[in-house]
Amino acid sequence: MRGQWTFRQLCRWKCAYSCFQEPANFSDNATMAEILQEALTRREFFRTVLGAAVVLGTPVWLDGLAREAAGSDGLGFIPVGLSREDRVVVPAGYLTRVVVRWGDPVFADAPPFDPRRQTAEAQARQFGYNCDFVSFLALPGGSRAAGRGLLWVNHEYTNPELMFFEYPAGRPTREMVDVELAAHGGTIVEVRQAPDGAWSYLRDSRYNRRITGETPCLVTGPAAGHAWMRTREDPAGLRVRGTLNNCAGGKTPWGTVLTCEENFHQYFANAAQLPADDPRVRVHARYGIPRGPSERRWELHYERFDVSQEPNEPFRFGWVVEVDPYDPTFVPRKRTALGRFKHEGATVVVSRDGRVVVYSGDDERFEYVYKFVSSKAYRPGDRAHNLTLLDEGTLYVARFYPDGSGEWLPLVFGHGPLTPENGFGSQADVLLNTRGAADLLGATKMDRPEDIEASPVTGTVYVVCTNNDRRTASQVDPPNPRAVNRHGHVLELFEAGGDHAVTRFRWQVFLLCGNPRDPDAYFAGYPKERVSPISCPDNITFDRAGNLWIATDGQPAALGYNDALYMTPVSGPERGRVRQFLSGPIGSEVCGPEFTPDFRTLFVAIQHPGEGGALQQVSSRWPDGTVPPRPAVVAVRHGEGREVGT
Ligand code: FEO
Ligand code: CA
Ligand code: CA
Repeated sequence: MRGQWTFRQLCRWKCAYSCFQEPANFSDNATMAEILQEALTRREFFRTVLGAAVVLGTPVWLDGLAREAAGSDGLGFIPVGLSREDRVVVPAGYLTRVVVRWGDPVFADAPPFDPRRQTAEAQARQFGYNCDFVSFLALPGGSRAAGRGLLWVNHEYTNPELMFFEYPAGRPTREMVDVELAAHGGTIVEVRQAPDGAWSYLRDSRYNRRITGETPCLVTGPAAGHAWMRTREDPAGLRVRGTLNNCAGGKTPWGTVLTCEENFHQYFANAAQLPADDPRVRVHARYGIPRGPSERRWELHYERFDVSQEPNEPFRFGWVVEVDPYDPTFVPRKRTALGRFKHEGATVVVSRDGRVVVYSGDDERFEYVYKFVSSKAYRPGDRAHNLTLLDEGTLYVARFYPDGSGEWLPLVFGHGPLTPENGFGSQADVLLNTRGAADLLGATKMDRPEDIEASPVTGTVYVVCTNNDRRTASQVDPPNPRAVNRHGHVLELFEAGGDHAVTRFRWQVFLLCGNPRDPDAYFAGYPKERVSPISCPDNITFDRAGNLWIATDGQPAALGYNDALYMTPVSGPERGRVRQFLSGPIGSEVCGPEFTPDFRTLFVAIQHPGEGGALQQVSSRWPDGTVPPRPAVVAVRHGEGREVGT
């Protein structure tokens, strides 16, 4: 039962065992299969969605290693295979270099990393733990310069048993909790490329900054100041201490980053101690706030994480946070108009009329796909105006129909069922309980929506669903066409008329991930014997040609190999030809990925190397051959300076 064991280990700190509990979506808005009550068999579902291209037979498959040479697409790398090695594996001709790792000093006067003498003060001045989203921002700002820039990096969560040599599970010391709080959040470092192409960070850049679980953040938008946002520490409900579980994110056209609070429920405890008739109880339950003690036990030292002491603190997390990396004094802003849920990421495009559209997935089994459309238009060069765009607009949730059409349903107070009779008295109420509002609208329950991103080349929106092993055969529907979906899938979403601000779309399945030998794996119709095995797709990006790059999170449990990074064309004869470009070290998840503007460097974040083990019994000594293993950002480039992947 290696797979089961691994899944359990991976879930401990990532989502506090969400995968082993009942899904938090207890709404009775039916899955699409139930709504339609159509007597479609599973095979008919596939035909509906995928057309005649699907062959439900056993393909020839070459032992897991698709090592086809470059094809007509001009993409010249020879794929790497799945790996169990404790290193970053890349194709021949490519170089990797660790740019910045957990504990590296971020300031000239910051202390060096000393894993046996960690303090919160030191950690708050060093690179944080579990790097996830990576954003490269050119210097000077607004340029397309490629050899110098700022890296914004998220620090999603902590693995205390891999950080501290003696971590007393269930009884962390206050100092340990303080170190963990300081290891969350994000980091900004200036990075430069030497004449030989090697990247490094500047320890004394004036831009360098740490944002942590303690950094003050402003609350903006409709939920600012709401009664449920108020606490003893912040009676006005306008200023939150810190940002937590910053998973993925996005970059705005005006040069800020969006960092997303994902599995925030796990930091809180004791929701069961609220009176049963308190209206907050149902909302906390819908978000999975623990009814008893938390796994992390931060509540032992800080009342704000104990819901029985501070019932509103969970409402102050689960938001998209905007940060201006070019302004080291910028106070991060929690943009409540974008809704409160377990945001994986928040990716930004400008609609035809200039309004800003932000796509975001709620990463939990049976949760939803969202987009926000700003009221006002983006004005190039008007930074002050653009910093107001995410405070006013319409949040929508997606409903997918089985005929390949879809609809964005507005989450607007007073519209449809979002009324006082259903517990919503204002737009702030809708946003604070976005999940509950989306339930009432009949949104489509998806298989863990992770990254959602529009191709800058075609405008097609890619919706990545990591997995959902709880979907039953009766819950299968065309956009989530597999029961016990261990390997995940990728949808393509086409906004009507190619305009991201509209409310109608069409959609189709692009990939059904897995071992290509599996009958139900599907690679946009591409011959399956020529693709690499891929499971649990998570974060994506696009190269200059619009090829889709897909990083994974969960392959150790799903395939028995390390997580990895893949590339696939999305158009032309090579569409769906998934090829593995990189493998991460043991126990790690591959995050980022992010190209420099010249596409000659690819940054990836190696998150939680060695996860599943402990320091007494490490499974990884990456990157330096030492203990503890250290999450780190890696720069990948070709030795001859080619664009990555070409
Ligand atoms: Fe933090 Fe959805 O991955
Ligand atoms: Ca992720
Ligand atoms: Ca993930």
